Amino acid sequence: MKDDPVISATDSVPGGPGPSPRDDARKHEGAILRVSDVRKVYGEGHTEVVALADATMAVDEGEFVALLGPSGSGKTTLISIIGGLLGATSGSVHLGDIDVTSMSARDLTRFRAERVGFVFQSANLVPFLTARENLLYVSGLVKGVSRGQARTRADQLLEELGLADRAGNLPEQLSGGERQRVAIGRALMNDPDLVLVDEPTAALDTGMGRQVVELLRREIKARGKTGIMVTHDLRMVEYTDRVFEILDGRLTHVEQPSTLGH
Ligand SMILES: Nc1ncnc2c1ncn2[C@@H]1O[C@H](COP(=O)(O)OP(=O)(O)OP(=O)(O)O)[C@@H](O)[C@H]1O
Ligand SMILES: [Mg+2]
Repeated sequence: MKDDPVISATDSVPGGPGPSPRDDARKHEGAILRVSDVRKVYGEGHTEVVALADATMAVDEGEFVALLGPSGSGKTTLISIIGGLLGATSGSVHLGDIDVTSMSARDLTRFRAERVGFVFQSANLVPFLTARENLLYVSGLVKGVSRGQARTRADQLLEELGLADRAGNLPEQLSGGERQRVAIGRALMNDPDLVLVDEPTAALDTGMGRQVVELLRREIKARGKTGIMVTHDLRMVEYTDRVFEILDGRLTHVEQPSTLGH
């Protein structure tokens, strides 16, 4: 990976022409996702690591944004806090009227199942369930969805993601790109408001990576979701609406993908 020119180019991302995320957030006052002064400190005393320093960002409903930054800059930490997987040391995250940072553990479990779809770097599918069963499994975590509705939705998603003829395959019988597409289907299965994606292309070649991100964009736009995609890879930002850059736990600036000159 170290020799990849695109990836190493992003290892020195600071600066750039865009406004600061704080100024940018002021322009997006009605945004569905509002992250305000979020700080995260891991450990304590001499082992203390400030992974995020006062992150502020706002993302509008229907937007698909990229979060770009070198390894260790705080990307996974930030989206984990946004999705209610990890607590913040201070600051707040609001999704619409919901204050994610002040929910009980029990409410957070429900919030994650109903409102958030996650796609991780490795697809993290359940190995002994088929592609279709991996989708159906998450619908079982939400109340009030009938099995019939879930089956219809799973089949529709698998069709849209080009996986109809792979629905009965186990993860080990799928290619890396197919597994990532199943993971996208699973993330969309419960009709979440927010889709959080962490390095979906890290294990894929460029062609497959582009296909996966293109599909992700199409689904997010067609379904009116709000999406954040973490990536090292500048080639993938052209599929996004805005780009947030993070360095050493600090969100530095926001740009339009077209200004990144790739
Ligand atoms: N559980 C933890 N305990 C202590 N430090 C942690 C923990 N998780 C992450 N860190 C540290 O916090 C910083 C940010 O980590 P994070 O995983 O958010 O980075 P990242 O931008 O996602 O990196 P990568 O691109 O390599 O995935 C790093 O310095 C990391 O070592
Ligand atoms: Mg990470």
